Amino acid sequence: MAAVAEERKSPRVRLFVALDLPDGVREGIAAWGGAALADPALRPVRSESLHVTLAFLGQRPEGEIEQIAEVVRESAGPAPWVELLDPVQRPPRGRARLYALPVHSPGTESLQAGLAQKLVEGGFYEPEERPFWPHVTVARVRNEARGSKRPAVVSDPPRKLPEGMSEAFLGVRLALYRSDLQPTGARYVPLAQVELPGAGRQ
Ligand code: 2AM
Repeated sequence: MAAVAEERKSPRVRLFVALDLPDGVREGIAAWGGAALADPALRPVRSESLHVTLAFLGQRPEGEIEQIAEVVRESAGPAPWVELLDPVQRPPRGRARLYALPVHSPGTESLQAGLAQKLVEGGFYEPEERPFWPHVTVARVRNEARGSKRPAVVSDPPRKLPEGMSEAFLGVRLALYRSDLQPTGARYVPLAQVELPGAGRQ
């Protein structure tokens, strides 16, 4: 069947590829967030949903999942060292829409570059024009009022990370996720996972 006809027939799913963090790191971020992200305007990201997005593919035909999973498996490289930096807001000025921990990790940047190139070659991904910004989103800001798209004011934004959280760790795996949008927030369902060599050695 022609690719175009196939694309029209297949239901679509919202997909992205991420670097997974060690369980202990995710739990540490969630525990820190219990106090640091307590402002009522914030919706902290659940521990199981904390990750570094490498490529957001958007809506793709369901029929492509297996090929994309194969690209993800082929993109595995050595587990990258990762350092979490102090929280920042996005957009940087005006009312925050989200808070994220930027990530310092040259290894993650090269994994992402290789993955993005293969996804583009396969026709699965249109890279963003802005450069890759590795980060872990830790909270989103609720809307000011029902029906409004304007974020609420955050009077108690997250501050610096405690020292222990700035220690470098190794990323553990690449994962292809389906994002299911729900009224309570998105649920991320792993569709394929590849462990990164060396990830267990810290
Ligand atoms: P974020 O964490 O910085 O918000 C699933 O939605 C994941 O894909 C999220 O982690 C999100 O990044 C990322 N993502 C990247 N671009 C996106 C977009 N245009 N829409 C939704 N999510 C996007």
